[in-house]
Amino acid sequence: MPKGFKNLNQAENLESKRQTNSIKTPLHIAIIMDGNGRWAKKHGLPRIQGHRKGVDNIRNIVRIAMINKIQYLTLYAFSTENWSRPASEVHGLIELLASVIDRETKELHKQNIRIKHLGRTENLSQNLQRSIQKAVEITKNNIGLTLNVAFDYGGRNELLEAAKNIIREKVNPDLLDETSFEKYLYSSGIPDPDLIIRTAGEMRLSNFLLWQTAYSEYYFTKTLWPDFDEIDMDKALSEYYKRKRQFGQIEDESN
Ligand code: FPP
Repeated sequence: MPKGFKNLNQAENLESKRQTNSIKTPLHIAIIMDGNGRWAKKHGLPRIQGHRKGVDNIRNIVRIAMINKIQYLTLYAFSTENWSRPASEVHGLIELLASVIDRETKELHKQNIRIKHLGRTENLSQNLQRSIQKAVEITKNNIGLTLNVAFDYGGRNELLEAAKNIIREKVNPDLLDETSFEKYLYSSGIPDPDLIIRTAGEMRLSNFLLWQTAYSEYYFTKTLWPDFDEIDMDKALSEYYKRKRQFGQIEDESN
C-alpha cells in the first residue's frame, strides 16, 4: 500500500478520480496553517506547544505532498502582521524556525527537496538570515519537491517591494507586463498555486500570495493545522479534482 494512506481503497479512489476527471494533479499547493493556538487550548497546553505540534505536522504534510507528486508546496509560517502578537509568542515562533532549519535541512536535502524562502529577511537576526541562506544554497539544485517557506511574508509588502524595485531600476513602464512584473516578486519563477488550503475554519486570504492566487482554487476546512492529516489532504484533493478551472474563459463548445 502506498505510504500516507490508511487503506488501499483510499489510494485507489484518489487515483481513479484523477483519471476519470482527467484533471491534472495540482502542481502547486499553498497552505495557510491556522489553528495552532486553538489546538493548544483544546489540549490545555501553552500556545507555543500548538506551534511545535504544527511544525511536527509540516514533516507529515511534506511527505504526503511528495506521495501525491505535488511539485511545489508553500507554507505560510509567519506573516508581516504576526509581529504584533505578544513578544513571547513572536520570539517562540522565530526560535522554532531557527531550530527547524538547523535540524531539518540535512534531511530535506537527502530527500532531494529544494528550500526557498518567501518574504523579508531584514527584521530577522544575522544568525537566522545566515541559516536561511545556507538552507537555500545547499538545496538549490535539488529537483524533488520545492518547499517555499513564507516567513515574515505579506502579499502587500511583496507588491510594494516589487513596485519600489521597478522604480529604482527605472524600468520603462511601456515594457512592463505581467511576465516582467512577476520577476520582482519573492515568488519569481514559481508557478502560481493551483490550490490554497486554509485550516481551522477561517475563510480569508490574510495577505497571502495576493498576486499569485488570481486563479487559484480554495479549500477551507475546520480541521486545526496540527490535526490536518492525509485524510484531510485526500479530501482537499478530491474537492480540487471536482472543480472546473476556466481561467476566465468559456468552455469550448466544440467538445
Ligand atoms: C496559526 O496558528 C499559525 C501560525 C502563526 C503560522 C503557522 C506556524 C507554524 C506551523 C509553526 C511555525 C512554522 C515554522 C516553519 C517556524 P494561530 O496561532 O493563529 O492559531 P489560532 O488562530 O488557533 O490562535
